[in-house]
Amino acid sequence: MANGALRVAVVGCGNISGPYGETLRAYPTIEIAGATDVDRGLSAEFVERFGGIDYPSLEELLGDGHVDAVVNLTSHGVHAQVTAAALEAGKHVHSEKPLAASYAEARSLVELADACGVRLSCSPITFMGEAQEEAWRLLAAGAIGTVRVAYAEVNWGRIETWHPRPEPFYRIGPLADVGVYPLTILTAIFGPARRVTAFGRVVLPERTTTGGEPFSVLAPDFGVAVIELEDGLIVRLTTSFYVTQASKQRGIEFHGDDGSLHLSSWQEFDAALELTHDGQPSRQVSVAPAFRGTDWGRAVAELGRAIMERRPHRATGAHAAHVVEILDAIETSATEGRPTEVRSSFPRPSPPGTRRPPAPENGNDRGQTQPLP
Ligand SMILES: NC(=O)c1ccc[n+]([C@@H]2O[C@H](COP(=O)([O-])OP(=O)(O)OC[C@H]3O[C@@H](n4cnc5c(N)ncnc54)[C@H](O)[C@@H]3O)[C@@H](O)[C@H]2O)c1
Repeated sequence: MANGALRVAVVGCGNISGPYGETLRAYPTIEIAGATDVDRGLSAEFVERFGGIDYPSLEELLGDGHVDAVVNLTSHGVHAQVTAAALEAGKHVHSEKPLAASYAEARSLVELADACGVRLSCSPITFMGEAQEEAWRLLAAGAIGTVRVAYAEVNWGRIETWHPRPEPFYRIGPLADVGVYPLTILTAIFGPARRVTAFGRVVLPERTTTGGEPFSVLAPDFGVAVIELEDGLIVRLTTSFYVTQASKQRGIEFHGDDGSLHLSSWQEFDAALELTHDGQPSRQVSVAPAFRGTDWGRAVAELGRAIMERRPHRATGAHAAHVVEILDAIETSATEGRPTEVRSSFPRPSPPGTRRPPAPENGNDRGQTQPLP
């Protein structure tokens, strides 16, 4: 790091790299060192827009001592191999989700980061959004009493109608692509999952890209899972690439002994919050000022600050690996028709508005966390 700035290079310059570039460059503590993509035209476009070097290959990017951290925005299926190469090259990594294709692979990346003495951070990071943090504060303050049930709705619609490369999304399905958002928020707030019971099915198997190419759906495009958390919370999660965002069922509902809280989106930082308490009429909770939409760069900036301050960062690889274990368990349960255990744990991210104690010199994401207040 130079002059307090984390020098980051982006690997994978597709659809989401533009929103990442826009949000990363808004942070004075981040320098965009460059980018690479197997499609050289895309990395050229990225660096023309956001600056830095257009690296001809991943190897050349990783060989540049000026780069502190890699932001891995490649397609789902290559996340783990790109992350492993970057960690082995001594770079910190922030990866898009899911961290890896299986829990075993995800866990090995967490161990590799430890062994290499570098940080591993992973999306989704939307528990850092203003609306999501306000929900967390309200729940921690007991605004609806003990929370025993949550409904998480991920009706994400038909990716092929807008994304130029939809197949990778249908290879992993809505659960691993977007179900991870509420799973990460819920486990950040309430702690680890312990058991799942699930159903999944392909309901619309043949799709067509915007370019007119037919392709087949490989993972369930509709699924429902009941996830039991260690602290007793029961989560019902719906994920779909069939039901569109026109669905009235959106966001996360938290239901407690004394009331309910509805967070209208698990992704938008300026989501609406509606609180119902003690049978009173519901009221909107003001969340201002909030970032409009999703600040993709926020976790990368937080990672840089955490490295500078020698404390654990909030979006850890260990947490993302736990979420991947939940995905594996949901798949097993849906396939074998039986409840499936989840065993891993992770250091809880520090709750909003609190500070964590300093970590050891090259402390990575194994640091201890403060309990929920
Ligand atoms: N598109 C979105 O709205 C969105 C939102 C949030 C997160 N994400 C996540 O971001 C990631 C990328 O999504 P996207 O929509 O940008 O996909 P995309 O297909 O548009 O982009 C992926 C890019 O990675 C490149 N790539 C693949 N393998 C590579 C390798 N080995 N080395 C270098 N480059 C490689 C591809 O050429 C492509 O340009 C996915 O994990 C997705 O889950 C996407």
